[in-house]
Amino acid sequence: MDSLIKSAAADPAGPAVAGGTRTHYKASGGTIFQVQTKIGYMYSSAANYADKSYYAHNTLGCAECHMASEKSHLYMVVEKDANGDITALTSTKCVECHDGEHALFVAAEQVGTTQYIWDGAAAVPTTVTQPMAAAAELQHEAHGYHDALEALAAIITTAGTTPKSSYPYFDGDPTDQGHGGAMHNYSYLHHEPGAYAHNRYYAKRLIFDSIDWLTNADGTAAAAGARVLNGSITLDPVNDAAAIGWLGGDSGTGVTARLNP
Ligand code: HEC
Ligand code: HEC
Repeated sequence: MDSLIKSAAADPAGPAVAGGTRTHYKASGGTIFQVQTKIGYMYSSAANYADKSYYAHNTLGCAECHMASEKSHLYMVVEKDANGDITALTSTKCVECHDGEHALFVAAEQVGTTQYIWDGAAAVPTTVTQPMAAAAELQHEAHGYHDALEALAAIITTAGTTPKSSYPYFDGDPTDQGHGGAMHNYSYLHHEPGAYAHNRYYAKRLIFDSIDWLTNADGTAAAAGARVLNGSITLDPVNDAAAIGWLGGDSGTGVTARLNP
């Protein structure tokens, strides 16, 4: 955020700031330590961006997740197929916390081993079977995240700024500070494919608020000068189904409320 507006206060309706699309390429640390880094453009001090009280990924070193594997030299947490879909979890670290009380994230190489897994009342030693391995659940989360970024890209394009792969990453100029903020958030998260896992609430809120600022509550484009944060957005229930699911919205109407504690 400071890379966009320096020490100025967030004022989404204020004038657009030049150079608003620069983010660090490897932004993963920024996502995990968002409280310190303020990496995303946060629309107002009234909107909550705080980590959940039970957030824990900031207590882990990068290598604890990324290098905990037979294939640790690869630095990969997951294996993917040619389409970019997750086919296996490689990190053996996850199950230490994700024992199934909430999510169950067991690595492929842990199949056949004994791990502490939730039986409905307690985590007890259990032999891991193939269906417990976590690829499908992680792929589901990753897909929702990528779909939400695509929905944001389409809305930024409608606002007159089309994302492109080379610097400065957009054709066209923002019309107000909040529009530039949406471009910044898109560019940062587009280059941070792990954000849905590193810090999902932060990623969801940044994408939500960027969409909220650029659209009206009914999903139509909001013109500069008439933009407000509604706390509610409407996406297309057909094209944006995975995004709506990931953001916690209504799959029938596409209406989604902002995630707050
Ligand atoms: C809680 C475990 C965890 C921690 C801690 C963690 N990561 Fe990740 N990281 C993941 C997961 C899961 C993915 C998602 C892989 C995917 O879907 O592509 C990921 C993805 C990434 C990617 C994208 C990889 C790619 O395929 O393009 C990078 C880069 C990355 N992490 C760097 C870091 C850095 C740097 C840190 C420390 C600041 C860190 N991670 C801490 C779990 C973790
Ligand atoms: C130190 C304990 C710990 C470890 C180790 C850990 N996580 Fe988490 N993780 C959590 C907690 C607590 C949450 C819930 C907080 C949140 O969602 O922000 C969470 C949330 C998540 C979420 C979002 C919630 C969901 O159900 O989709 C994903 C995805 C995730 N972790 C993936 C991973 C992966 C993959 C690994 C291993 C590479 C990992 N985590 C390792 C504690 C941990």
